[in-house]
Order: sequence, then structure tokens, then C-alpha cells
Amino acid sequence: MSKSLLFHFPLLLFPIVVAIANATAAPPVVLQFKEAPEFYNSPDCPLIIDKDHESGSDGEPSILCSDRALHVSMTLDTAYIRGTMAAILSVLQHSSCPQNIAFHFVASANASLLRATVSSSFPYLNFHVYPFDDTSVSRLISTSIRSALDCPLNYARSYLANLLPPCVNRVVYLDSDLVLVDDIAKLAATQLGDNSVLAAPEYCNANFTSYLTPSFWSNPSLSLTFANRKACYFNTGVMVIDLDRWREGDYTTKIEEWMEFQKRMRIYELGSLPPFLLVFAGNIAPVDHRWNQHGLGGDNFRGLCRDLHRGPVSLLHWSGKGKPWARLDANRPCPLDALWAPYDLLRWQTPFALDS
Ligand SMILES: *[C@@H]1O[C@H](CO)[C@@H](O)[C@H](O)[C@H]1NC(C)=O
Ligand SMILES: *[C@@H]1O[C@H](CO)[C@@H](O)[C@H](O)[C@H]1NC(C)=O
Repeated sequence: MSKSLLFHFPLLLFPIVVAIANATAAPPVVLQFKEAPEFYNSPDCPLIIDKDHESGSDGEPSILCSDRALHVSMTLDTAYIRGTMAAILSVLQHSSCPQNIAFHFVASANASLLRATVSSSFPYLNFHVYPFDDTSVSRLISTSIRSALDCPLNYARSYLANLLPPCVNRVVYLDSDLVLVDDIAKLAATQLGDNSVLAAPEYCNANFTSYLTPSFWSNPSLSLTFANRKACYFNTGVMVIDLDRWREGDYTTKIEEWMEFQKRMRIYELGSLPPFLLVFAGNIAPVDHRWNQHGLGGDNFRGLCRDLHRGPVSLLHWSGKGKPWARLDANRPCPLDALWAPYDLLRWQTPFALDS
């Protein structure tokens, strides 16, 4: 393929096939993705010297371990791969130093297929895929709350400090159902102050009480958890995490202890969020709300569309049941889904199983 053709048709090359089985156990759908264009640093970006790919024993670029790189972590699975691809594209497209971004993906299954999918659409991406053993966390998920939406990989964000190498000391964690429309460097530069382990947009008008059960609040030794803390709700889909402080404080164990407790006494209804609130709410560093315009998923079932919250927008997050790709496919998009569509790298998908 000639260089000029690459330049003119960067989105049409080397698709790969992924079989996905969705939560309703429908036949697998085959997805093919386009290749994204290459993105380049602007001249004033810090130079990260890649000493002949020295650090990675398997020839991976040393930027994955550099403290001058901007580290981003996301999960990878077949059900959300289309969202993840769009999120990656949006991060690169709005970054002034895209070549200085290192992606750390966590996958619990099909890791080699997912790795191949990412590198075929983003051949220049600095990334590594970390295997996540979801049997260890499955043991901790109380069966009563487990559902299709509450898969073990949702809990991977609690294990980043262990999964990512010790040389990575700060990471931006992102969910797969979002796109950025601003430079991620601004989010990554959030000051964590002297004590905070993580930063996220806080919502102090939300009813914090409702995230934990009445049995939690009526038990004095439990509700004391929030004594001297001005606890506010935050969404765990966008977080800046100081991994060094996390490791020092062993916060993974603190989260697991609440999950163990939940198995004995029901203290919350939702899945991976409440343990984060129990450990961190009231002690996080605030981030401007523009960095998580969440809830845009609304509710697929009732066909509810959400509007943006007031104020500027740097990140759009389709949290909630509805996902923009599903609504676009069904020809029933919400108005804001049009803002996700430009990042969709899907080239082609079968409407039926190929092997049936
Ligand atoms: C792995 O891929 C197979 C088919 O390719 C799919 O049925 C299965 O659900 C995938 N597993 C996960 C956890 O994504
Ligand atoms: C907050 O939520 C709790 C539990 O769901 C409820 O009892 C309480 O009335 C709510 N408070 C407000 C101000 O809405």
C-alpha cells in the first residue's frame, strides 16, 4: 500500500473480525473495524526517549513505563469493544501529545483477539493488555447483585495498582462508554493535594444516602464510616488515580473488605460503585464536572434520552442502560448519540451468526 493511499484512505485498511456474544445469549455478531489515522505530537511535547524498546522484555515500547508519559487504563471485552475503540480514537484525536500516551488495557478473556483488534485499528498505539483473573473477584461479588451488567471486569478498576507495573504511578481510568472532546492532558494534570488517592467529579447534590441500604445507615458502627467525611457521590467511570498512594495504603484490600462484608450483610444494591464510595467518598480531589457528563445512556428500555448537565463539556459518558451504538443500530438514536457517531470505527457487522 503506497504512502499516499494511506494518507487519503486511512480509515479503510486492515479490518479484523471479532465475534461477540451479547448478554442476551443471541448468536455471535461479527464486527470489523476500520484503521484509525496516525496521530502526531505537536512540537512542544516532551520527548520520551524510547531506548530501543529496552524496558519491555517482549519488545514493547518503554513509554509504557515512563513517568513522562500519560497513562490511561481501560477494560477490554468483546461486548464493549466498539465503545472502547471509539474512546481510544477520541482520546488521541483531542490530545496535543498523542504519541506520549500509554494505554493499559485489562482483559479477562479473549485477550489475544482483543489485542489484535486494537492493534489493527491503531497500529501506532503504545499499549499493553493485562490479563485479569476474574475468578478471584467473582468470589467476592455477592450473588444477589450479580447480573449481566455487573460482570467481574467491572471490578478491574479496583485492581489497577496491582495489575499495572510499579513504574506507573499515576493513571487516568476511563470507562468504555464515553468519548473525550478535549485534551486528556488537562484531566491527567489534576492536582491530588497532599492526601487524596484519587480525583473525580463529585456530585454533592445527589442523595448520598440512597447508595447504601437502610441497614447500613441504621447500624451506628457502620454509619460511623462517614463521620468527619463530607461524603458526596462520584462516578467511578472517570478517575485520576495516584497508584503509589493506592499501593501504600493498600486500598484494594480495603475495597475487598467491604465486598466481603456485603456477602454477610446487604449494605448496598449496586455493584462495583458502593465499595469505592465507602472507601473514598469525602476524601477525593474534585475534578470539574465537564470531565464526566454522565448518564447519557438513559434507559434503553423506556426509550428515555438524557440531556447534558449544565456547563461546559470535555467528556461525554453514556452511563446507564442505553448505549449509543445500540441505539444507532436500532435506528432509534437519542439526539446526543450523534456526538458519539463520529468516533465509531465500526466498518461492518453481520446481522446474523455466520456459523449457524
Ligand atoms: C470471548 O469470545 C467468545 C467468542 O469469540 C465469546 O463467546 C465470549 O463471550 C468472549 N468472552 C468474553 C469474556 O468476552
Ligand atoms: C434520600 O434517600 C433516602 C433513601 O433512599 C430517602 O429515604 C430520603 O428521603 C432521600 N432524601 C431526600 C432529600 O430525597
